[in-house]
Amino acid sequence: MIETKNINFYYGDFHAIKNISMKMEPNTVTAFIGPSGCGKSTFLRLFNRMNDLINNTRLEGECLIKSKNIYDKSIDVDELRKDVGMVFQKPNPFPKSIFENVAYGLKVNGVKDKKFIAQKVEESLMAAALWDEVKDKLHKSAFELSGGQQQRLCIARALAVAPSVLLMDEPASALDPISTSKIEELIHQLKSNYTIVIVTHNMQQAARVSDKTGFFMMGELVEYSDTKKMFLNPDKETTQNYITGRFG
Ligand SMILES: Nc1ncnc2c1ncn2[C@@H]1O[C@H](COP(=O)(O)OP(=O)(O)OP(=O)(O)O)[C@@H](O)[C@H]1O
Ligand SMILES: [Mg+2]
Repeated sequence: MIETKNINFYYGDFHAIKNISMKMEPNTVTAFIGPSGCGKSTFLRLFNRMNDLINNTRLEGECLIKSKNIYDKSIDVDELRKDVGMVFQKPNPFPKSIFENVAYGLKVNGVKDKKFIAQKVEESLMAAALWDEVKDKLHKSAFELSGGQQQRLCIARALAVAPSVLLMDEPASALDPISTSKIEELIHQLKSNYTIVIVTHNMQQAARVSDKTGFFMMGELVEYSDTKKMFLNPDKETTQNYITGRFG
């Protein structure tokens, strides 16, 4: 589903991502772990060209999604971002109703059929495990929801435009333990329909939710393997030291 080939990425002169090649299979959850500043978010943002919005950056190498180089001139970036949705650390609903938040992507894409929109909103809220909690107040402001509910709303908003990939940058780090476990459960459910990449600082979370884990350090991919192996029997001593909390 996603394949990077010898990716190097620079902020000005700063070499933030160093020659990373990796593959992510469809319907899997991949976790990125590593110390603060090692490049996890930068690498994740390459998958839907969010780094294009930052000035004075440079990319080398290829990033293929469904076998197409997403940096090719023929790529429509808006289409790409529909197909590769993103959820951020802090829930960022729009100052609109719950319904309008989820309907937004469809409407900006020119969908006008009200019945179709209502159906997609319901489906997306269900898929994000939020429907039961909001079905009686769809026209209330999104800001009336709790942080955990807002985060699931943002997930519903991403799902409404039918992506194939969902990128999540520390989606639960601003949430309480109960909301966090809801998000983790949700990730588990979504895996059957989406390819998910999640950045997390929480080692237990990576171990719980992911099939594969990539360990990053100073812009390099130190180790990438099945999550079980990574946490039980990593190849590298640096990985062992990091996951056992000896640094980072
Ligand atoms: N917009 C930017 N301009 C310049 N340098 C940046 C920018 N964003 C990130 N960097 C640098 O690139 C490196 C990687 O940053 P990145 O945010 O990808 O790390 P991270 O692994 O996500 O860290 P954290 O766990 O703290 O979120 C850091 O050294 C950071 O200072
Ligand atoms: Mg980050």
